[in-house]
Amino acid sequence: MPECDGDTIIRFREVSKHYPLPSGDVVALDRVSLDIMKGDFIAIMGPSGSGKSTMLNLMGCLDTPTSGDLCIKGRNIRGMSDEELTLLRRDHIGFIFQQFNLLPLLTALENVQYPLILKTGSRECVERCRTVLQAMDMDEELTSHKPSELSGGQQQRVAIARALVNDPEILLADEPTGNLDSKTGTAIMRLLDTLNREEGKTIIMVTHDPAIAEYAHRVVRIVDGRIT
Ligand SMILES: Nc1ncnc2c1ncn2[C@@H]1O[C@H](COP(=O)(O)OP(=O)(O)O)[C@@H](O)[C@H]1O
Ligand SMILES: [Mg+2]
Repeated sequence: MPECDGDTIIRFREVSKHYPLPSGDVVALDRVSLDIMKGDFIAIMGPSGSGKSTMLNLMGCLDTPTSGDLCIKGRNIRGMSDEELTLLRRDHIGFIFQQFNLLPLLTALENVQYPLILKTGSRECVERCRTVLQAMDMDEELTSHKPSELSGGQQQRVAIARALVNDPEILLADEPTGNLDSKTGTAIMRLLDTLNREEGKTIIMVTHDPAIAEYAHRVVRIVDGRIT
């Protein structure tokens, strides 16, 4: 596989992902090749079941290819141990989900602290967490609220703060506005746009909404596991 250094931050080369099922393998991705550059803002679009989340999960080292080469930050993930994949994910990748995926028993602040505690084993990171929440336009008094006491838009701001707290270069967002009304969705997209333009975050976002995809610089279309 050609080395992927320079400005390529994620490289897919003939990547396939099969899920074994008793009724036969599901081919979720079929020989996908794609280069993503540092600072890119990409929208992945395609019908339900076309392989969008599978692609995002591979980029996020939540899963590994069945075949082909996937290079993240210049390193081929083939042959990496689970521990190496966990470190790559923890230090370089932030995730944002449609369902926010906050821990319901923790406050907003504790949710943001959680990845830092996993990383450093220490809870002495309150200032950093407050700063990141503030940058997401979260009011100070809301930081002690549980997710159930926050609106959808506020929960997504907390989730973005959590994704950013380890300062990853790559942000992966699976339908980040899918559970939000269009006004709140627009506010969240403005935040992502600022993170891309002002902080140089590389953003890969799955969406089926053409208005949301307009925030991206490039649209990748996928049908039946293949880029079209
Ligand atoms: N863990 C899994 N086990 C079996 N099949 C799966 C699994 N995850 C996804 N699939 C299948 O892979 C295909 C692509 O799924 P997915 O990537 O979730 O699509 P999308 O996000 O575009 O809706 C679908 O046919 C789906 O049913
Ligand atoms: Mg999906």
